[in-house]
Amino acid sequence: MDYFTTTSKASRRAVDCVIVGVYERGKLGAGAADIDAASKGAIKRHIKNGDISGHFGHCFVLTDVAGVRATRVAIVGLGKAGSFDLTKYRRALAAALNAISRSKTRQILNCLTLENTNGAGSYYLARHTAQTVGDVLYRFTEMKSGKTPPAMPLKKVGLAIAKPGDAAKSMRGAEHGSAIVSGMSLAKDLGNLPANVCTPSYLARTAQKLAREHKNLQTRVLNETEMKRLGMHSLLSVTAGTKEAARLIVMQYKGKPGQKPVVLVGKGVTFDSGGISLKPGPAMDEMKFDMCGAAGVIGTIAAVAGLKLPINVNVVVPAVENLPSGRATKPGDIVKSMSGQTIEILNTDAEGRLILCDALTYSRRFKPDTIIDVATLTGACVVALGHHRTAVMSNNDDLSKSIVAAGVSSDDCGWPMPLGEEWATQLKSNFADMANVGGRDGGAITAGCFLGKFTDGMNWAHLDIAGTAWKSGKQKGATGRPVPMLTEFLLARCGALP
Ligand code: BES
Ligand code: MN
Ligand code: ZN
Repeated sequence: MDYFTTTSKASRRAVDCVIVGVYERGKLGAGAADIDAASKGAIKRHIKNGDISGHFGHCFVLTDVAGVRATRVAIVGLGKAGSFDLTKYRRALAAALNAISRSKTRQILNCLTLENTNGAGSYYLARHTAQTVGDVLYRFTEMKSGKTPPAMPLKKVGLAIAKPGDAAKSMRGAEHGSAIVSGMSLAKDLGNLPANVCTPSYLARTAQKLAREHKNLQTRVLNETEMKRLGMHSLLSVTAGTKEAARLIVMQYKGKPGQKPVVLVGKGVTFDSGGISLKPGPAMDEMKFDMCGAAGVIGTIAAVAGLKLPINVNVVVPAVENLPSGRATKPGDIVKSMSGQTIEILNTDAEGRLILCDALTYSRRFKPDTIIDVATLTGACVVALGHHRTAVMSNNDDLSKSIVAAGVSSDDCGWPMPLGEEWATQLKSNFADMANVGGRDGGAITAGCFLGKFTDGMNWAHLDIAGTAWKSGKQKGATGRPVPMLTEFLLARCGALP
């Protein structure tokens, strides 16, 4: 997608479609006011006859408006003037784009804006515009045979800015937004692919392909023999039941020689049947999304590499399939993790933590400045926070705060959850150093505490994305989260934000 900025008026630009907004009670946004003036009242006339309204998300498209150079004008309702915020901005823009999605619109000029967009405002406005365009245009058609209806042929997006001085920030926002969109689309594709295609080896090949595309990015892939030699028996216990080969994927992006890296660890269970502790049948297909942590961290390092950010980032993905069989791990089995600690596996469906613990221990070799694991770890997290926010747990309050803050500015929100001895004691085992489950109560937190036993001395955070990584129901599909949150966190860290 190409982006350009312009200070020209909504009515003066000859694009395929110009997008403007009206608030409730007939208050016109700046773009709409200009169109109305140039067309001798076309917008107000349509408000009067009820076609156009300020009702939030309502959209009407006018064509061939006299006095206006654009072929189409999409007028979207913005709701109450006082409560129009960033999230609403994104939803309104999406509504306008959806309204013209069947047309042959190649270039648009977006005149929607948030009031008070000075300072960093024009940067974030452009970034969220790019992200919204990316979300609306995303299609997953790889698995459909025959012809699929093409997405809108949109090629060029104009960003209306108030003054020429905003252009640089605006373009930077669009550039960052586009990189986030590429990372999200990759994460969505990996999530949406079925488990018979997106296997651990497929994830590994994807990581290797990325390394070929970016100069400062390297990928190494370890096989099961190498993992055994490292003592990753906890990870290997999860893959025991499947014929699909497990992989440990290690990616390194070097943008700042000498600096300690941020290490991102992503859960890569390409299918989670639960193993011998088999899951119930309904919606089990959704467990193909159990590698969305892996997809999120791979998407993030792709965005970072695409932007050539001055920072070092490593990705570690333990990739396995969790299936039952005659060789599968059984409830009660005890394994020794790479850290030396022993684990009694009371439930083979609590497999994410079993692969992550060894990946976290492995990551110590990079002497991380910060380590963040990302996982669709617990159903309990979905019960606690629903599908709206990612759970953020950390052994460092400042780290937790900066991750939550990154979630707010990237509109990919998280929410802090506690960790502590009270919950950790639920993991006591009669036979081993710990059990892999701590009962039903506080399930998202006990899972975090389990991982905490492997991150001693590291500056660590854990993101449970079980509720946010994909949508169920009619709109079933991966969301690309938390690529925006993680990329924002890294952009902030390397001083790339205005
Ligand atoms: N991948 C699941 C978590 C999950 C469940 C994510 C539903 C999204 C929706 C994880 O491996 C799992 O099965 N967790 C168990 C843990 C339990 C056995 C302690 C769970 O949440 O039920
Ligand atoms: Mn499971
Ligand atoms: Zn799982």
